[in-house]
Amino acid sequence: MTERPVPASELYTDEMTADPYPTFAHLRETAPVCPVSSPRYDSYLITRYDDAKTALTDPRLSKDLYGPDKHYLRIFGPNSEGLNKNMLNSDPPEHTRLRRMISQAFAPRRIEALRPRVGEIVDSLLDKVVHQGEAELMHDFAIPLPMTVICELLGIPESDHERVLDWTQVIRTSGSSGRAPEEDKAAVQDAQLHLHHYLSDLVQAKREAPADDMICALIDACDQEGKLSERELVTTTFLLLFAGHQTTADFIGNATVALLTHPEQLGMLRSTPELLPQAIEELLRFDGPLPVASPRIATEDVVYDGVRIPRGSIVGVVINSANHDPAQFADPDRLDLCRERGPHIGFGHGVHYCLGVSLARMEARIGIGTMLRRLPNLRLAVPPGELRRLAAASPFRGLLELPVEF
Ligand code: HEM
Repeated sequence: MTERPVPASELYTDEMTADPYPTFAHLRETAPVCPVSSPRYDSYLITRYDDAKTALTDPRLSKDLYGPDKHYLRIFGPNSEGLNKNMLNSDPPEHTRLRRMISQAFAPRRIEALRPRVGEIVDSLLDKVVHQGEAELMHDFAIPLPMTVICELLGIPESDHERVLDWTQVIRTSGSSGRAPEEDKAAVQDAQLHLHHYLSDLVQAKREAPADDMICALIDACDQEGKLSERELVTTTFLLLFAGHQTTADFIGNATVALLTHPEQLGMLRSTPELLPQAIEELLRFDGPLPVASPRIATEDVVYDGVRIPRGSIVGVVINSANHDPAQFADPDRLDLCRERGPHIGFGHGVHYCLGVSLARMEARIGIGTMLRRLPNLRLAVPPGELRRLAAASPFRGLLELPVEF
């Protein structure tokens, strides 16, 4: 087993952008705990299912990026507290306090009440394209669906949705946009700054004109119960906004491609719509939108699979590799919508398990289910190999564009 760091440029190739699963299989077999060196930061990738699950609950692998050791500097750079010092980047008890503040709002019962509105949004987006015979499904459907839902939940005015979307897309496509690296970095910093100012101003405006939305509920927690600081209010809003649409959008895109390139599975789903909830879980296992969980830090030397990960190292748990581990999933590279709902880790594992899981499942089920019903002749407009994707080194697995005909 190698402990020689693999340069990121050797790992994250164009082939890996198109299909990362052969590389993951190779790593699981030859270097299940793989040190990777990159101009951004060095890290260790954990690729086997059992190790991944253990790592996601290992208290020696911390998420406290903003503690005294300032690990965030290596990962996000300076001036990142304004948006990123949130629950995802903290450990208990901080994490528990922040998560408790909003977990009520994401309880399955509350999310269920959103079902009619999600259905309306899905239909209105499809109404716009259904008579055109063609569409670019990322921008016409997969991105605006979860974006509209989370903006409405938070209470972001409709007139602002477009510019908020523009900023979040600059962050999402970082490293894949075709911009020169320096220009790309500047564009991301600029978008983050705009988002920070925008969300801070919005919180201020809502203090003056309270409404029945999630930002106002957070303001109440901040003011009346003193449970949330002003900064935490903005960072929590940013986390919900970003986590609330990014992954779901990429998931809907990836799932659509998986279905359109597996016609027999698609046909089965069309003729057996009650398979949908189970199919969504298999599609998430098959090609999830978050290939690697957010970075962890080793607080002491830890050993996984015989490889010593030194204290202070950044650790990436490769969710999409774990979900293709043959030790856990029989014939893992086969899409099988009838696969028994197995314990995939597409929504994470442990205390940071996805807070928005009920919302994500509902959006995906209504979105994909309605799309298949209303677009019965849906097909790719370009060969699968020509689809433009986010680069393999991106934190997200998704499509830049999804041209379809129907
Ligand atoms: C955390 C996946 C949709 C909110 C996570 C994590 C994963 C994940 C893997 C854990 C990350 C880690 O441990 O590093 C997904 C997928 C989604 C999705 C695959 C869609 C298909 C959503 C939605 C929301 C959301 C719709 C709504 C706001 C969050 C939040 C966290 C999180 C707030 C942080 C939880 C914590 O730190 O305790 N998600 N997510 N996610 N997700 Fe999702």
